[in-house]
Amino acid sequence: MKTVQLGSSELQVSALGLGAMFFGTRTPTDMSYELLDEYVAAGGNFIDSANIYAHWVEGFKGGESEVLLGEWLRQRGNRSQQIIATKVGFGYPGVLQELTPRTIEEECNKSLKRLGIETIDLYYAHVDDYNVPMEEVLEAFDKLVNAGKVRFIGASNYLAWRLEEARGLSEAKGLSNFVCVQQRHSYLRLKPGGSTAPQVTTNTDLFDYSRRRNFPIVAYSVLLGGAYTQPDRSIGREYLGPDSDARLAMLKTIASETGATINQIVLAWMLHSDYPTIPLIAASSHQQLQENLGALDVKLSADQMQRLDNAR
Ligand SMILES: NC(=O)c1ccc[n+]([C@@H]2O[C@H](COP(=O)([O-])OP(=O)(O)OC[C@H]3O[C@@H](n4cnc5c(N)ncnc54)[C@H](OP(=O)(O)O)[C@@H]3O)[C@@H](O)[C@H]2O)c1
Repeated sequence: MKTVQLGSSELQVSALGLGAMFFGTRTPTDMSYELLDEYVAAGGNFIDSANIYAHWVEGFKGGESEVLLGEWLRQRGNRSQQIIATKVGFGYPGVLQELTPRTIEEECNKSLKRLGIETIDLYYAHVDDYNVPMEEVLEAFDKLVNAGKVRFIGASNYLAWRLEEARGLSEAKGLSNFVCVQQRHSYLRLKPGGSTAPQVTTNTDLFDYSRRRNFPIVAYSVLLGGAYTQPDRSIGREYLGPDSDARLAMLKTIASETGATINQIVLAWMLHSDYPTIPLIAASSHQQLQENLGALDVKLSADQMQRLDNAR
């Protein structure tokens, strides 16, 4: 799998990241290991987790994804080849939703322990916190970088103007800066006035920011939880706007022109976009993972990209 430099960081991440949200909870250990091995065999090296994954699954309390990854890294002995990303900021049992310096430090220590590693390669602020001054948040992350606990920092669910605010502050104060943003992003767009709060969905503002600053978007929930193709699921109402029928029809058209699947077209459209985008794929079966990895082989022409971009 091709690798790309993650913005201004020194990280060379694979073109598709792997979401580990349900590993160790909804996805049993054996299957999680198999999917991780399969992703690595395909050349993947960018694995995404969070302190809270996946506390909302019945019978679990959070931290299970990190624990599973830690054990898998130990058993495979491949820590140095993998880029491990995790996050702090959302609440889970016993921990508030906040980015206070204390929570950032405490949660980082817990994540390091669960992952069984000395340094987190990419540590995200999982959600913006308007109650803590941005400077204090950046100072807290910078402290972790200086202590060698974290290599690079990222933001998730931040608006473009807040990313620019952070960049200005980091530059002025000599602090570590966010190297990417992880945002909700699919081919279907939010309808006017639609919201996925507290998750933040990409918009033209962020695309422009990303393009002009060469600031990567790590895209999550790209396949809308399987709703593009799984007959038992429906696409969220917030995505059903004036252009959704035209966009769903265009996905079908381009899929039949290329011989690729609809999910592969969604992913290939992201890989071909003119702002740096690294989609996170997620899967609960071999077949899903293979289909999603197959998006790497789909070539879209300039004309096909234009028709996909302009479908409305
Ligand atoms: N920063 C954030 O706030 C945030 C939020 C959410 C997620 N994330 C990250 O992003 C990753 C992916 O998120 P997501 O799970 O929401 O992604 P998604 O792409 O919207 O959904 C993945 C789910 O779709 C189904 N699926 C996957 N491939 C498929 C295929 N080829 N055909 C049919 N169905 C398919 C599977 O559901 P079934 O298993 O039910 O079949 C799979 O679990 C997470 O693991 C996490 O690392 C970050």
